[in-house]
Amino acid sequence: MDESPTAERTVVTLDGPAGAGKSSTAREVARRLGYRYLDSGALYRALTWALAEEGVPEETWPELDGEALDALGVSVSPGAETLELDHRGRTLDSELRTPEVTARVSSVARLPAVRRWLLRHQRALGRHGRLVADGRDMGTVVFPDAGTKVFLQADLAERARRRLREQGVESPRREETAREAERLAARDRTDMTRETAPLKPAHDAVLLDTTELDFDEQVEAVVALARKVDPEAGRR
Ligand code: DC
Repeated sequence: MDESPTAERTVVTLDGPAGAGKSSTAREVARRLGYRYLDSGALYRALTWALAEEGVPEETWPELDGEALDALGVSVSPGAETLELDHRGRTLDSELRTPEVTARVSSVARLPAVRRWLLRHQRALGRHGRLVADGRDMGTVVFPDAGTKVFLQADLAERARRRLREQGVESPRREETAREAERLAARDRTDMTRETAPLKPAHDAVLLDTTELDFDEQVEAVVALARKVDPEAGRR
Protein backbone atom coordinates (compact mmCIF):
# COMPACT_ATOMS: atom_id res chain seq x y z
CA MET A 1 0.00 0.00 0.00
CA ASP A 2 1.29 3.48 -0.86
CA GLU A 3 1.61 5.41 2.41
CA SER A 4 2.84 8.69 0.94
CA PRO A 5 0.65 11.65 1.89
CA THR A 6 -1.33 13.55 -0.77
CA ALA A 7 0.07 16.93 -1.84
CA GLU A 8 -2.43 18.97 0.16
CA ARG A 9 -1.68 17.00 3.34
CA THR A 10 1.96 18.09 3.13
CA VAL A 11 1.01 21.75 3.46
CA VAL A 12 1.92 23.20 6.88
CA THR A 13 0.04 26.35 7.94
CA LEU A 14 1.22 28.78 10.62
CA ASP A 15 -1.25 31.47 11.61
CA GLY A 16 -1.33 33.89 14.50
CA PRO A 17 -1.11 37.54 15.56
CA ALA A 18 1.64 39.98 14.56
CA GLY A 19 4.97 39.39 16.28
CA ALA A 20 4.31 35.79 17.38
CA GLY A 21 7.38 34.67 15.41
CA LYS A 22 5.52 33.15 12.47
CA SER A 23 7.79 34.24 9.62
CA SER A 24 11.11 33.32 11.19
CA THR A 25 9.69 30.02 12.43
CA ALA A 26 8.04 29.17 9.12
CA ARG A 27 11.19 29.92 7.13
CA GLU A 28 13.32 27.63 9.34
CA VAL A 29 10.67 24.88 9.45
CA ALA A 30 10.61 24.95 5.64
CA ARG A 31 14.39 24.66 5.53
CA ARG A 32 14.45 21.68 7.90
CA LEU A 33 11.66 19.88 6.05
CA GLY A 34 13.01 20.71 2.58
CA TYR A 35 9.70 22.44 1.74
CA ARG A 36 8.96 25.76 0.08
CA TYR A 37 8.01 28.82 2.13
CA LEU A 38 5.08 31.18 1.54
CA ASP A 39 5.16 34.49 3.42
CA SER A 40 1.57 35.54 2.69
CA GLY A 41 1.94 38.82 4.60
CA ALA A 42 4.49 39.87 1.97
CA LEU A 43 1.76 39.70 -0.69
CA TYR A 44 -0.45 42.14 1.24
CA ARG A 45 2.58 44.31 1.86
CA ALA A 46 3.49 44.33 -1.87
CA LEU A 47 0.03 45.60 -2.79
CA THR A 48 0.21 48.23 -0.03
CA TRP A 49 3.57 49.41 -1.37
CA ALA A 50 2.26 49.56 -4.95
CA LEU A 51 -0.88 51.50 -3.96
CA ALA A 52 1.34 54.19 -2.42
CA GLU A 53 3.80 54.20 -5.34
CA GLU A 54 0.96 54.52 -7.86
CA GLY A 55 -0.61 57.32 -5.81
CA VAL A 56 -3.96 55.61 -5.31
CA PRO A 57 -5.75 57.63 -2.59
CA GLU A 58 -6.66 55.63 0.50
CA GLU A 59 -10.31 56.68 0.43
CA THR A 60 -10.73 54.97 -2.98
CA TRP A 61 -9.27 51.60 -1.89
CA PRO A 62 -12.66 50.04 -1.08
CA GLU A 63 -13.62 50.50 -4.76
CA LEU A 64 -10.66 48.54 -6.12
CA ASP A 65 -11.62 45.54 -8.23
CA GLY A 66 -9.60 42.74 -9.84
CA GLU A 67 -8.86 44.82 -12.94
CA ALA A 68 -7.58 47.76 -10.90
CA LEU A 69 -5.38 45.40 -8.89
CA ASP A 70 -4.00 43.86 -12.11
CA ALA A 71 -3.14 47.38 -13.27
CA LEU A 72 -1.02 48.16 -10.19
CA GLY A 73 2.02 46.53 -11.77
CA VAL A 74 2.73 43.97 -9.06
CA SER A 75 3.96 40.62 -10.29
CA VAL A 76 4.05 37.49 -8.19
CA SER A 77 6.10 34.54 -9.41
CA PRO A 78 7.02 31.30 -7.70
CA GLY A 79 10.79 31.14 -7.12
CA ALA A 80 12.76 28.04 -6.10
CA GLU A 81 12.21 28.58 -2.38
CA THR A 82 9.53 31.22 -2.03
CA LEU A 83 7.48 33.77 -3.97
CA GLU A 84 9.24 36.55 -5.82
CA LEU A 85 7.50 39.91 -5.77
CA ASP A 86 8.18 42.85 -7.99
CA HIS A 87 6.65 46.19 -8.85
CA ARG A 88 7.23 47.40 -12.43
CA GLY A 89 10.55 45.56 -12.57
CA ARG A 90 11.75 46.55 -9.11
CA THR A 91 12.28 43.57 -6.79
CA LEU A 92 10.42 44.17 -3.53
CA ASP A 93 12.28 43.21 -0.40
CA SER A 94 13.18 45.76 2.32
CA GLU A 95 10.45 48.00 0.79
CA LEU A 96 7.88 45.65 2.31
CA ARG A 97 8.99 46.29 5.89
CA THR A 98 8.90 50.09 6.00
CA PRO A 99 6.86 51.65 8.86
CA GLU A 100 4.57 53.29 6.24
CA VAL A 101 3.69 49.92 4.71
CA THR A 102 3.32 48.27 8.14
CA ALA A 103 0.97 51.03 9.34
CA ARG A 104 -1.36 50.67 6.34
CA VAL A 105 -1.24 47.00 5.41
CA SER A 106 -4.15 45.94 7.67
CA SER A 107 -6.43 48.38 5.82
CA VAL A 108 -5.46 46.76 2.52
CA ALA A 109 -5.79 43.22 3.91
CA ARG A 110 -9.39 43.81 4.97
CA LEU A 111 -10.57 44.47 1.38
CA PRO A 112 -12.45 41.44 -0.03
CA ALA A 113 -11.26 42.18 -3.60
CA VAL A 114 -7.64 42.12 -2.46
CA ARG A 115 -8.11 38.80 -0.67
CA ARG A 116 -9.76 37.26 -3.76
CA TRP A 117 -6.96 38.55 -5.99
CA LEU A 118 -4.28 37.02 -3.81
CA LEU A 119 -5.99 33.70 -3.23
CA ARG A 120 -5.06 32.20 -6.59
CA HIS A 121 -1.37 33.05 -6.19
CA GLN A 122 -1.28 31.41 -2.79
CA ARG A 123 -3.12 28.28 -3.91
CA ALA A 124 -0.93 28.00 -7.02
CA LEU A 125 2.12 27.75 -4.79
CA GLY A 126 0.46 25.09 -2.63
CA ARG A 127 -0.72 22.91 -5.50
CA HIS A 128 2.25 20.58 -5.32
CA GLY A 129 2.29 20.45 -1.53
CA ARG A 130 5.52 20.46 0.52
CA LEU A 131 4.87 24.06 1.55
CA VAL A 132 5.05 25.98 4.83
CA ALA A 133 2.68 28.97 4.69
CA ASP A 134 2.43 31.69 7.31
CA GLY A 135 -0.23 34.37 7.72
CA ARG A 136 -3.65 34.91 9.28
CA ASP A 137 -6.01 32.71 7.24
CA MET A 138 -3.73 29.97 5.91
CA GLY A 139 -5.44 27.18 7.86
CA THR A 140 -8.98 28.59 7.74
CA VAL A 141 -9.37 29.83 4.14
CA VAL A 142 -6.39 29.35 1.86
CA PHE A 143 -5.39 25.76 2.70
CA PRO A 144 -8.35 24.21 4.58
CA ASP A 145 -7.10 20.68 3.78
CA ALA A 146 -3.55 21.22 5.06
CA GLY A 147 -2.32 18.25 7.08
CA THR A 148 -0.53 20.34 9.72
CA LYS A 149 -2.10 23.50 11.12
CA VAL A 150 -0.53 25.51 13.90
CA PHE A 151 -1.78 28.70 15.56
CA LEU A 152 1.10 30.54 17.23
CA GLN A 153 0.44 32.70 20.25
CA ALA A 154 2.62 34.71 22.62
CA ASP A 155 2.08 37.38 25.29
CA LEU A 156 1.60 40.86 23.85
CA ALA A 157 4.56 42.34 25.76
CA GLU A 158 6.81 39.49 24.63
CA ARG A 159 5.72 39.97 21.03
CA ALA A 160 6.50 43.69 21.29
CA ARG A 161 10.00 42.95 22.66
CA ARG A 162 10.68 40.48 19.84
CA ARG A 163 9.56 43.00 17.23
CA LEU A 164 11.86 45.67 18.69
CA ARG A 165 14.76 43.21 18.83
CA GLU A 166 14.21 42.43 15.14
CA GLN A 167 14.57 46.17 14.51
CA GLY A 168 17.89 46.17 16.37
CA VAL A 169 16.66 47.53 19.74
CA GLU A 170 18.34 45.10 22.14
CA SER A 171 17.09 46.37 25.52
CA PRO A 172 14.00 48.44 24.84
CA ARG A 173 12.80 50.92 27.46
CA ARG A 174 9.45 50.22 29.09
CA GLU A 175 7.72 53.06 27.17
CA GLU A 176 9.11 51.81 23.86
CA THR A 177 7.76 48.33 24.54
CA ALA A 178 4.39 49.78 25.54
CA ARG A 179 4.18 51.83 22.31
CA GLU A 180 5.09 48.82 20.16
CA ALA A 181 2.54 46.68 22.07
CA GLU A 182 -0.14 49.26 21.30
CA ARG A 183 0.72 49.16 17.57
CA LEU A 184 0.58 45.36 17.54
CA ALA A 185 -2.71 45.31 19.46
CA ALA A 186 -4.27 47.78 17.00
CA ARG A 187 -3.22 45.62 14.05
CA ASP A 188 -4.54 42.47 15.75
CA ARG A 189 -7.89 44.17 16.36
CA THR A 190 -8.23 45.07 12.68
CA ASP A 191 -7.17 41.57 11.60
CA MET A 192 -9.51 39.80 14.05
CA THR A 193 -12.62 41.88 13.47
CA ARG A 194 -12.67 42.18 9.68
CA GLU A 195 -15.50 40.42 7.87
CA THR A 196 -13.46 38.53 5.31
CA ALA A 197 -11.05 35.86 6.55
CA PRO A 198 -10.53 37.24 10.06
CA LEU A 199 -7.60 36.08 12.17
CA LYS A 200 -8.70 33.04 14.19
CA PRO A 201 -7.46 29.50 14.75
CA ALA A 202 -8.80 26.83 12.37
CA HIS A 203 -11.01 24.35 14.26
CA ASP A 204 -8.36 21.67 13.67
CA ALA A 205 -5.28 23.82 14.46
CA VAL A 206 -2.82 23.00 17.25
CA LEU A 207 -2.36 26.03 19.53
CA LEU A 208 1.29 26.70 20.31
CA ASP A 209 2.16 29.36 22.89
CA THR A 210 5.73 30.48 22.27
CA THR A 211 6.07 32.97 25.15
CA GLU A 212 8.35 30.62 27.07
CA LEU A 213 9.90 28.77 24.12
CA ASP A 214 13.18 29.60 22.49
CA PHE A 215 13.43 29.70 18.72
CA ASP A 216 14.78 26.18 18.28
CA GLU A 217 12.07 24.70 20.53
CA GLN A 218 9.28 26.36 18.59
CA VAL A 219 10.74 25.28 15.25
CA GLU A 220 11.15 21.68 16.45
CA ALA A 221 7.58 21.60 17.81
CA VAL A 222 6.22 22.42 14.33
CA VAL A 223 8.67 20.09 12.53
CA ALA A 224 7.56 17.21 14.78
CA LEU A 225 3.89 17.83 13.92
CA ALA A 226 4.66 17.99 10.19
CA ARG A 227 6.64 14.72 10.35
CA LYS A 228 3.59 12.93 11.71
CA VAL A 229 2.11 13.53 8.24
CA ASP A 230 5.28 13.24 6.14
CA PRO A 231 7.80 11.22 8.21
CA GLU A 232 10.58 11.42 5.60
CA ALA A 233 10.41 15.21 5.13
CA GLY A 234 13.90 16.70 5.24
CA ARG A 235 15.48 13.28 5.63
CA ARG A 236 15.40 12.20 2.01
O1 DC B 1 2.53 38.92 8.83
P1 DC B 1 2.68 40.37 8.37
O2 DC B 1 2.93 41.34 9.48
O3 DC B 1 3.66 40.52 7.24
O4 DC B 1 1.24 40.71 7.77
C1 DC B 1 0.93 41.98 7.27
C2 DC B 1 -0.55 42.24 7.34
O5 DC B 1 -1.23 41.49 6.34
C3 DC B 1 -1.22 41.94 8.67
O6 DC B 1 -1.69 43.12 9.28
C4 DC B 1 -2.40 41.08 8.34
C5 DC B 1 -2.37 40.87 6.88
N1 DC B 1 -2.37 39.47 6.50
C6 DC B 1 -3.58 38.88 6.30
O7 DC B 1 -4.61 39.52 6.48
N2 DC B 1 -3.65 37.60 5.88
C7 DC B 1 -2.53 36.89 5.70
N3 DC B 1 -2.62 35.62 5.28
C8 DC B 1 -1.27 37.48 5.93
C9 DC B 1 -1.23 38.77 6.34
